[in-house]
Amino acid sequence: MPSRTLKDKVVVIGGASKNLGGLIAREVAVDGAKVVVHFNSPSSKEGAQQTAEAVKAAGGEAIVHEADLTQVSEVEGLFEVAVGAFDKVDCVVNTAGMVLKKPLTEVTEDEYDKMFAVNSKAAFFMMQEAAKRVEDGGKIVTIVTSLLAAYTGLYSVYAGSKAPVEHFTRALSKELFGRNISVNNIAPGPMDTGFFYPAETEDSIAYHKSSAMNGELTKIEDIVPYVKFLLTDGWWLNGQTLFINGGYTTR
Ligand SMILES: NC(=O)c1ccc[n+]([C@@H]2O[C@H](COP(=O)([O-])OP(=O)(O)OC[C@H]3O[C@@H](n4cnc5c(N)ncnc54)[C@H](OP(=O)(O)O)[C@@H]3O)[C@@H](O)[C@H]2O)c1
Repeated sequence: MPSRTLKDKVVVIGGASKNLGGLIAREVAVDGAKVVVHFNSPSSKEGAQQTAEAVKAAGGEAIVHEADLTQVSEVEGLFEVAVGAFDKVDCVVNTAGMVLKKPLTEVTEDEYDKMFAVNSKAAFFMMQEAAKRVEDGGKIVTIVTSLLAAYTGLYSVYAGSKAPVEHFTRALSKELFGRNISVNNIAPGPMDTGFFYPAETEDSIAYHKSSAMNGELTKIEDIVPYVKFLLTDGWWLNGQTLFINGGYTTR
């Protein structure tokens, strides 16, 4: 059996101050990774610092870096800092995202631009810079959404702005043949984090719960093992989108 570990691997995590990205950081640290804990909003700084402390307490190394990943120069800056601190990058996991739930007819130009900036543009340039920077044998993972396999209204611009990432992933994974770098997406079901609730009502939360196994939302703890798998022994998976959602949507 191949055995690939995260020991001394440098892992850049986009959006690691809390929730999914925060737990990924803590869990890769358990295996001895060196983590670049990225955050975007000033209000996330403290959370990012706590994540970094938790990484160190778990036996890993960590640095914290602030960047608006919708700006290509700041994406480049994130990788500059990572290489400056740890001399290399092995894995990149981008969890940056923004949700909007409303009828398509009510989405404003500003909302559309913001959603595509975070969910498409930032994802694209994170992948581009990751491809330039990761060592041969590296891994690139982007978090999308299980709504990519849903027939539903109200998430037009959210699911629509995550959808291009599947095509970016297919193309990049193929372009990187020969360097032993796998590129994949993980598509969680509705997750029990502060990201999910503001867009929903009591009724819609009940509906989302009823749409998966055991009447439950997806938990970040359910997603993290798959991320770690992709970064280690799951290396042969390539160019794919994994729907991890208790059966919420399938494709
Ligand atoms: N929760 C759900 O129901 C659910 C379901 C399926 C998929 N997802 C996806 O899972 C991912 C993680 O979500 P989560 O639930 O863990 O919520 P979260 O902690 O709020 O994650 C969103 C992340 O995006 C970052 N971000 C937003 N704008 C950014 C920008 N301009 N530049 C860089 N980073 C930016 C945020 O950083 P700051 O806070 O520092 O701004 C935050 O770390 C997201 O991509 C989301 O679309 C979530």
